[in-house]
Amino acid sequence: MTQRKILVTSALPYANGEIHLGHLLEYIQTDIWVRFQKMQGHECHFVCADDAHGTPIMLKASELGITPEELIASVSERHQADFKEFSIGFSQYYSTHSEENKEISAGIYNKLNKAGFIKKRTISQAFDPLKQMFLPDRFIRGECPKCGAADQYGDNCEVCGATYSPTELKNAKSAISGAMPIAKDSEHYFFDLPQFEVQLKEWTNAGHLQDEISNKLAEWFDQGLQQWDISRDAPYFGFQIPGVKGKYFYVWLDAPIGYMASFKKLCTEQGIDFDEYFNKDSKTELYHFIGKDIVYFHSLFWPAMLMGSNHRTPTAVFAHGFLTVNGEKMSKSRGTFIQARTYLENLNPECLRYYYAYKLNNKIDDIDLNLEDFKQRVNSDLVGKVVNIASRSAGFIVKKFNKTLSAYSIEGDLYNEFVAKGDDIARLYEMRQYNQAMREIMKLADKANRYIDEHKPWQLVKEAGCEAQVHDVTSLAINLFRVLMTYLKPVLPVMAEQAEHFLNIDTLAWNDLKHPLTKHEINTFKPLMSRIEDDQISAVIEASKQTTQAVKEEDNMIQIDDFTKIDLRIAKIVKANVVEGADKLLQLTLDIGEENTRNVFAGIKAYYNPEDLEGRLTVMVANLAPRKMKFGVSEGMVLAAGNGKSLHLLSPDSGAQVGMKIS
Ligand code: 2FM
Ligand code: ZN
Repeated sequence: MTQRKILVTSALPYANGEIHLGHLLEYIQTDIWVRFQKMQGHECHFVCADDAHGTPIMLKASELGITPEELIASVSERHQADFKEFSIGFSQYYSTHSEENKEISAGIYNKLNKAGFIKKRTISQAFDPLKQMFLPDRFIRGECPKCGAADQYGDNCEVCGATYSPTELKNAKSAISGAMPIAKDSEHYFFDLPQFEVQLKEWTNAGHLQDEISNKLAEWFDQGLQQWDISRDAPYFGFQIPGVKGKYFYVWLDAPIGYMASFKKLCTEQGIDFDEYFNKDSKTELYHFIGKDIVYFHSLFWPAMLMGSNHRTPTAVFAHGFLTVNGEKMSKSRGTFIQARTYLENLNPECLRYYYAYKLNNKIDDIDLNLEDFKQRVNSDLVGKVVNIASRSAGFIVKKFNKTLSAYSIEGDLYNEFVAKGDDIARLYEMRQYNQAMREIMKLADKANRYIDEHKPWQLVKEAGCEAQVHDVTSLAINLFRVLMTYLKPVLPVMAEQAEHFLNIDTLAWNDLKHPLTKHEINTFKPLMSRIEDDQISAVIEASKQTTQAVKEEDNMIQIDDFTKIDLRIAKIVKANVVEGADKLLQLTLDIGEENTRNVFAGIKAYYNPEDLEGRLTVMVANLAPRKMKFGVSEGMVLAAGNGKSLHLLSPDSGAQVGMKIS
């Protein structure tokens, strides 16, 4: 067998949120494939990184009152802790905010620019006049132009599903400051994708993509390729475009380059030849595992960037579908938006790895995690079938036969049948048809259990002269267990390690299976996995609801910036009048030291005589947008404390003067 050299990536998670079970579908899918390749003796590197740039990360850091660097460092730590517990065996986990990435991104950009693939043009975009920044579509909210639903994003309506441009949104507001966005011009840099049309058409039809994806691409080609906007204006958290002050690479430019940067770091650490993997004529293999939502980036922009900068293109892009939980989109209110950490606090990570393997195939259909089915499947397959083979046989070997397997293997045909299945199972792993691989393995597990049932060692052991037979039967069962655990090792690395200890062998290896273990001493059996109980699942759901509650409470907090937006001033009530026809209102004339006095209608009539108010100082909101009321325009608001029964206008301490600002 020739040894393949393989580089594998999973999509880079954003550095502003926690890992959840949706992310894990992909990391587990990739990790199984990588572990399988390594078991086949290939050189296989698995790299990933946090996707650390972009507006949402910059804003989140500012909301938390920390620097983006501090935010991405703490998120990275949590991401890596989660991955470790789920046994995601990255060769390198890095960050796109790294020196390596800065250098490679600049290098690729310079090459593209030199070759004439970068164009500049001025475009007009929504701009927040208060925050002094351009607003990504997600940060503009307003009423849907189609159905009128309130508080919709700038690019699509979650109520009627319409897509539109932010300029069509009615009563648009910046989600950051609440200000009305204005249109502002700025020069942008574009990657000239249309120049790659011929090359991309050829590439996308050359077997690098799944059929469903190639079909989707044909539609995109029909619609015509567009130039891709790769620049963002300051303020932005990212890499500055070389030589262009105040302009940064859009996060999606340096994200896939982050795959290379992470690998570069690995190469430096381990003495691997980076160029051998990325030069134009590379004989190595490069695979990207991604979700179906980011196919455009990986099957058009990314290969074109690689082509244009004289690098190799991916061997294949493997897209998967989305995760649903109990048949629906993950939902915070139903408690099915489950974070990796919440799962880990209640359940064994290997159970999820098995269930995902049991469901995953090489198509882009969505995968459903049905929690009841998850419980039953794990209990029945892993606990009831696989572990059971060892647990019902090991006791005899340990207690009656001095921990030693019999000297020869009986039922050569049965054992060989198990080994012969290895090729099929390997092919299914290679093709990412894990669901079928798991079914094949479980069919074998059923067969092994049937064999034990038929030979009943627990009865034989009571019959005179049957001792040798008991030894042979249980030894064979242990050997069949060894074969099954070898096949399951890419999916269940922790359980496989425990099995290695139990079997007293260095490693469960595909190639070693030809020979059963004979006259071999094993260790005492310890339970390898316990059943999933209902209360563990309810605990996950409950805790996920609580997480959401905590998020909501956090949502209610305002930041110091929000507070300083309010212009609070000491005001003198120069006049207070009853308003004809209004039950609750007094009309106040307020002096705040400006040239003109302010007219404010306040709902305080039930609590004050107008003449008692005249001459006193209070506090007013001076920058409240004027409101037209039935009796006139109200130009601010006075502050009062109350509990529904009584009401008390605020007064400053003595010495305060009209017009003073409150902070
Ligand atoms: O969609 C996402 O979550 C992105 N952070 C994925 C980036 S993958 C790669 F291209 F960098
Ligand atoms: Zn709508």
